[in-house]
Amino acid sequence: MRSHGCGDLRADHAGQAVQLCGWVDRSRDHGGVIFIDLRDRSGSVQITVDPELASADASLQAAGAAAFATASHLRNETVIQVQGTLRARPAESLNERLATGAIEVLASSITVLNAVKGTLPFPVSVHDEENTREELRLRHRYLDLRRARMNHNLRLRHRTVQAIRAFVEAEGFIEVETPVLTRSTPEGARDYLVPSRVCGGEWFALPQSPQLFKQLLMVGGLERYYQIARCFRDEDLRADRQPEFTQLDMELSFVNQEQILELNERLIAAIWKAVKGIELPLPFPRLTWHEAMERYGTDRPDTRYGMELVTVSDLVADMGFKVFSGAVAAGGSVKVLPVPGGNDAISNVRIKPGGDVFSEAQKAGAGGLAFIRVRENGEIDSIGAIKDNLSEAKKAELLARTGATPGTLLLFGAGDTATVNKALDRVRQYLARDLALVPKDRDNDRWNFLWVVDFPMFEFNAGENRLEALHHPFCAPNSADLGDDPAQWATTLPTARAQAYDLVLNGLELGGGSLRIHDSALQRQVLQAIGLPLEEAERQFGFLMEALDMGAPPHGGIAFGLDRLVMLLAGEESIRDTIAFPKTQQARCLMTRAPADVAPKQLEELHVASTWVEQED
Ligand code: AMO
Repeated sequence: MRSHGCGDLRADHAGQAVQLCGWVDRSRDHGGVIFIDLRDRSGSVQITVDPELASADASLQAAGAAAFATASHLRNETVIQVQGTLRARPAESLNERLATGAIEVLASSITVLNAVKGTLPFPVSVHDEENTREELRLRHRYLDLRRARMNHNLRLRHRTVQAIRAFVEAEGFIEVETPVLTRSTPEGARDYLVPSRVCGGEWFALPQSPQLFKQLLMVGGLERYYQIARCFRDEDLRADRQPEFTQLDMELSFVNQEQILELNERLIAAIWKAVKGIELPLPFPRLTWHEAMERYGTDRPDTRYGMELVTVSDLVADMGFKVFSGAVAAGGSVKVLPVPGGNDAISNVRIKPGGDVFSEAQKAGAGGLAFIRVRENGEIDSIGAIKDNLSEAKKAELLARTGATPGTLLLFGAGDTATVNKALDRVRQYLARDLALVPKDRDNDRWNFLWVVDFPMFEFNAGENRLEALHHPFCAPNSADLGDDPAQWATTLPTARAQAYDLVLNGLELGGGSLRIHDSALQRQVLQAIGLPLEEAERQFGFLMEALDMGAPPHGGIAFGLDRLVMLLAGEESIRDTIAFPKTQQARCLMTRAPADVAPKQLEELHVASTWVEQED
């Protein structure tokens, strides 16, 4: 149907007859001559339709007049086929911003392949991209995909996957597909369930990740597996989470943690080189989980800026300020977030109830923020009791420890340590944006990768009064923490560190993995530690324990969130802009209107009855 791509035409094609297909990006009638920007996936080119075709050939002139008649009724986004001759543009109409800006196609014939019948919900043409509501974009995603931004992002995603495949295949990884109809894998989210028609009353779960299958592939002797795997998690959605998303999933046998991290650093560097042309400095910095929590209050710190948290519990425990002494006496902490230049930038009103900074802390569960302003000569100012109760020595120590200089604002969080960390982490991120310490995503040119290592095996879930696996219950504990004596494991396991690691980029968790347990007795013990009685563990994971007893090699791996990776590479703020057909925050597809009801007969066949009752507003 066509001889060239619109965007591929160049001046050295001048004189050639061409046949093009594409969409009318826009058209302009310049008093007797019509200009059409014709767009296909390769780019766009100007079509000139001139009824006065300078030609002695009468039939050509008739064709020109017919083309003009068609062109004068073309609406944007009509699909057309154009025949014509390529010619150089006159000097005064060169367009240097366009790759095809030195030439134009003089049309001899235009055929409408498909007309636009209704009203377009939004203009597709590049000039209007930013202002379309996301809801409309998702409802008519096929139109949105025609636009430059999504087109660019999907190509970037493709190039990312190409770079990944090239790297892992050169390293000897084999791609294996794992089932999507499977049983629940505990990765911490709710499962999407699929009722079985054949096995009445029983359910498949869609995989939250291929975790157990990739381990079983290692038992199966594959040694190096990868998959671009679709995962499903029914969890609260945010800008960086989707109910179905894609992982680059990997697993390796006979390797230690160091080798896995080193290989993955090279993988990430290869991606950045191929997609962005950037040489990342290797190795990536590392922090232990404990250090990350201490210094940033989070296990995925954004290290592009400072404002590190400082624990001052010991300094303020007995200074007679109840909020502080009470927190320390109850086993909690007092931590400081130093904000250099914060005196000028952040008024008292913003930190006190009703203020924006206060409200950030409150959203993370804190009651409020005490604060001190550091003045010239190390003098301090505060509201309330802090200033009056701090001895000179302790004041000097506080300033030294927090690195505060005149102009610094010190924000204090006090309470149970988890809440203090959460609140100060949130305020730190909020102020970094407020004080413009980080570039906007689109302009980002800083790539602060960070390995967070030595995660604890478990955290305490107070709501359920039990230990919970921090990653998942298949991570191997640190053998030094565990000890050699299985009789001691019940005691040593709960506080052991895991051989687990996360890769963080600019404050976002890009991937995570671990070495796995390959000893069935230890696996049973871990499942018991998270509250699964032995029988239940056997019922759910007996197949895994059985496989571990049949020659499972030591193994480990990692999975990256592909959508997140592409989001960061594309400078987007939401993974929805990296996925062709994403779901909304309510986990809906606005285009197909899924989820949707089904015929009663379908439910009957599946032995399912709905208990859903329409909510009254
Ligand atoms: P984890 O649960 O940490 O590990 O997931 C790995 C990575 O997947 C991405 N991710 C998501 N991306 C988009 N939407 C979501 N809802 C979502 N949830 C997770 C994140 C995350 O870092 N089986 C283990 C890996 C392993 O141990 O090898 C796992 O799935 O970028």
